[in-house]
Amino acid sequence: MKLKKLCAFLAAGMLALSLVACTDGNTTATSAESQADSSKAESDAAPTESKGSKIGISMPTKSLERWNRDGSYLEKEFTKAGYEVSLTYSDNKIDQQVKDIEGLIADKVNLLVVAAIDGESLAQVLAEAKSQNIPVIAYDRLIMNTDAISYYVSFDNYTVGKLQGEFVAEKLDLANAGDKKFNIEFTGGDPADNNATFFFNGAMDVIKPYIESGTVVVPSGQTTFEQVGTAQWDTAKALSRFQNILGSYYSDGTQLDAALCSNDSTALGVTQAIQSDYAGTNEVVITGQDGDEANLANIIDGKQTMTVYKAVANEAIATLDLGAAILNNEKPDASLIEKSGWSFDCTYDTSSYDNGAAVIPSYLLVPVTVTKDNIQKELVDTGYYTMGSDGYPHPVQ
Ligand code: BGC
Repeated sequence: MKLKKLCAFLAAGMLALSLVACTDGNTTATSAESQADSSKAESDAAPTESKGSKIGISMPTKSLERWNRDGSYLEKEFTKAGYEVSLTYSDNKIDQQVKDIEGLIADKVNLLVVAAIDGESLAQVLAEAKSQNIPVIAYDRLIMNTDAISYYVSFDNYTVGKLQGEFVAEKLDLANAGDKKFNIEFTGGDPADNNATFFFNGAMDVIKPYIESGTVVVPSGQTTFEQVGTAQWDTAKALSRFQNILGSYYSDGTQLDAALCSNDSTALGVTQAIQSDYAGTNEVVITGQDGDEANLANIIDGKQTMTVYKAVANEAIATLDLGAAILNNEKPDASLIEKSGWSFDCTYDTSSYDNGAAVIPSYLLVPVTVTKDNIQKELVDTGYYTMGSDGYPHPVQ
């Protein structure tokens, strides 16, 4: 942080040689605080014509923990950089989100950042945004069948699922199973969320060869995304579906070895079902995603095995720098990554995310696997969470 400030000072003094040395020094910054500070320094150095513009941020719901963090990080980053922010939450109701976005358009925002509840339902309202020349960034979830969005900022969603699948494969040592067989059940996300199939496919691509070879068995027979999806990523729905599965296929003493869940809200329901309705005494490997507080507590307590963490603080920084570039009439491309000097990894992808109208240029950040063993290093030492006196990590907002 200090180095960065010194860099800015030296740059102002035109001491170019010293600046190179400083920039090198800064690439090693890792904490959330230093990441936020380095981004701020970058955006302060950026052209200023767009400062004071209005940013409309539409988040899906407060009921799924992560979006509270996304909303507050986005609001903080854009405000700190000199923008005026309107932040809305739509209670996971599609009509409400349409109304919220209509309201933001009526308020004459200059940029929309939207995490869709239902990727298919925003085409009409975003056509209105387009007709008023309001650029739209699809945030975290791709928005389908509209030519109104210019960019997508997210994590590598396929890799999220792949990390979950690889974790299960390694934990059960499927590659060396010999004649042993393992029982696995899948729980997917919301079919209305374009991310959900990416997560499922990433995990399934790892596990499928083991299903085909007979090493992995799925006693419920539910192996397609359509069969395992969970509307609205709802914990109660995941809980009752899993209770049914346990009652129908495991009540005879069949051992469940792994529950591959796409995210933490569904993992929470599945874990509750296993605690209450599973007769076995073995440790069931349970995957998740997000680092929700209750799930991290379950990981510490040995009730959930892993979560895939996505540093939403960095997703907000990427969105700010992209938004600023758009508002400054630049045409952001791969060079934005280097230009912004982010201290986190990001790829510029121009092939993976086709929304039905076009392939949307995407900035994809990198997810990490978190277990009890690396919670301290990945979540606490990085500054995203603090370890409470209760022994559990709590998010820093
Ligand atoms: C996000 C996940 C999240 C899920 C439910 C997805 O679109 O990418 O991080 O777990 O929505 O909120």
